[in-house]
Formats: sequence, structure tokens, C-alpha cells
Amino acid sequence: MNTQLEQLKEILARSRAEIGKVIIGQERVIDHALITIFTGHHALIEGVPGVAKTLLVRTLARVLGGDSSRIQFTPDLMPADITGTNVFNLQTNEFTLIKGPVFTDFLLADEINRAPAKTQSALLQAMQERLVTIDRETHRLAPVFTVFATQNPIEYEGTYPLPEAQKDRFLLKIPMDYPSREEELQLADRMLGRESPENVLAAGGVGQVIGAEDLGLLREALESVLVKEELRAYVVDVVRGTRGHEGILAGAGPRATQALLVSSRARAALEGRDFVTPDDVKEMAGPVLDHRIVLRPEFEIEGVTIPEVIAAVLKEVPVPR
Ligand SMILES: Nc1ncnc2c1ncn2[C@@H]1O[C@H](COP(=O)(O)OP(=O)(O)OP(=O)(O)O)[C@@H](O)[C@H]1O
Ligand SMILES: [Mg+2]
Repeated sequence: MNTQLEQLKEILARSRAEIGKVIIGQERVIDHALITIFTGHHALIEGVPGVAKTLLVRTLARVLGGDSSRIQFTPDLMPADITGTNVFNLQTNEFTLIKGPVFTDFLLADEINRAPAKTQSALLQAMQERLVTIDRETHRLAPVFTVFATQNPIEYEGTYPLPEAQKDRFLLKIPMDYPSREEELQLADRMLGRESPENVLAAGGVGQVIGAEDLGLLREALESVLVKEELRAYVVDVVRGTRGHEGILAGAGPRATQALLVSSRARAALEGRDFVTPDDVKEMAGPVLDHRIVLRPEFEIEGVTIPEVIAAVLKEVPVPR
């Protein structure tokens, strides 16, 4: 038995449980957020207002022993508002660095499509390299630095949609839906009983299961989750299947293959397994492929959706036994 992998599976199970003390329901969102963090990537979150996106990022930081911050993107936001600036200090006659919000572990970037391209790329560069350059000096970001970015609906006036190449840099797109009636009733009960999710978090009602420093070590354990040869081929064929589909104008690139492999591995570990199954691949195909596919306009006009097209691709590719 691989002890590091055993430890990872236990940490993931405990993280799930602790986050569940604050966030009601949204199990899939929680899993996908953990998959993003433990594979060392970043994710887009898509959801209506008030479904606990901010609360989720704060809770993740608490449980995983890191800190968190938030940037609200606006049309006048400058790259330096993200990375930081050197400010001249008259008392010491020296420049001191005022660090920007990227100097954190878990960053919520709200409505990234409300800022122009230059500002968006400052964030994307920090995400990719985990480094920022301020006045020609390079600064290292936290090794666990993870961005969760939300987007306004594209129809919204005055937005700058993320170019396809930049969306490809996010491992997953995580949809966040309204809670079910049962869950909303539970939320109402808690609010009235002064046990609101915010109060639980503020009162230290969730435990820390790991330190941000140890997270890096556990990430390596994912490499020992077995992906059998047939499953590697399955992953490749699913991604390639998006390229030939009649409803798709632009299919997913090779980065999607890598994303589907690593996220299927992490999903297997979350389910307590040491090996990937076809179900892991099917579960992760939606969040991996959704933001990497462009529909043909004539299909879009007819009301065909990307999830429908992904389901059709999954149906066409033979599943390994
Ligand atoms: N599933 C849930 N579990 C726990 N609390 C929830 C849930 N859904 C909503 N809430 C509550 O709803 C409120 C809004 O949460 P939050 O501010 O995190 O939403 P948001 O998605 O960031 O909203 P916005 O898009 O406006 O920024 C919080 O007070 C939180 O307690
Ligand atoms: Mg919010």
C-alpha cells in the first residue's frame, strides 16, 4: 500500500466533511474545488449571485490551512491592482513593496470579464507561473496559489469575454446551481437559530485538516493513482471526439487531455480508490470540456447546449470494460 496515497485519501475525505459543516449541499462543487486545488490548477466558477461562492473559497482556505483574498474586477482595474506596486517611503528613503491580492493561497477573482485584457492577463500570468514581476523584480507566489474566477454572463454589456486560449488555462468550469428546497430550508433554519454558515465559520466551527505547506507533498501522491492503458486511450478518444462532432466549431485541444487525466485521477482518490474508472472520466468530462468547446452558431440557434453535445460525444466513444 502506498502510504502517501492513503494519507491523501484520508485528507480529502476529512476536507469534504469539514467543508460540509459550513456549505449546505453543493457536494459536486466542493469535490471539484478540491480536485482543482489538489491537482495544482485553477477553476472557473459559474453561478447566479448568492449561492455561496465567496463563502466556499473562505471555507476552503480555513480547512486547508491557507489564507484567502478576493478581487472584484472592474473596467478601471489596473494590472498593478492585482500584482502590487513599489511605493516610495519618505521616512526611510526607500521603495517598499505593497503586495497585491495575488499574494495569497486561495484567490477569488470575481467577474474577471469586467476588466480589460491587460488586467486579465496579469492575473493569468500569475496563475500560470506562480510568479509576478513588479518593476523588473520577480516575486514568487505561494506554491498552493489557486484562483477561482467567476464570470458575468457574456450578454452583459461592457464585458471583455475571456479569449478561448485563456479559458483553456482553467482546469475546470464548475457550475454552481441554486440549492434544492430541502437545502434552502436547512439554510433558513440555521439562519434563524443563529447558526448561519458565516457564524459557524467565524466561531471556528470548522477544523483545519492540513497545512498549506503539506499540500504540495500530497499533490505528488496523485501520481500513484493508476490509469490503465485502456483508460488513457478512453480519455484521448473522448477529447478527440469533440473535434469531429458535427455541432462543434472548435473542439478541445491537447491541454484538455491532460486536464481530463489529472482530474480523473484526483476524482478517483476522492472516491477512495487507487485507480481510475470510466465513471471518473465521464464525471470529469463535463467540467473539463465545457469551457473548451465552441458550438457551431446554427446549432446554438437551434438551442443545442454544450452539455448535450458532450453527452453525445460520450455516447459515441466506446467505454473500456
Ligand atoms: N449552499 C449554501 N450553504 C451555506 N450557505 C449558503 C449556501 N447558499 C447560500 N448561502 C448563504 O448565502 C449567502 C451568500 O453567500 P456568498 O456571499 O458566499 O454568495 P456569492 O455566491 O459569493 O454571491 P455573489 O455572487 O453575490 O458574490 C451567505 O450568507 C451564505 O450564508
Ligand atoms: Mg461573492
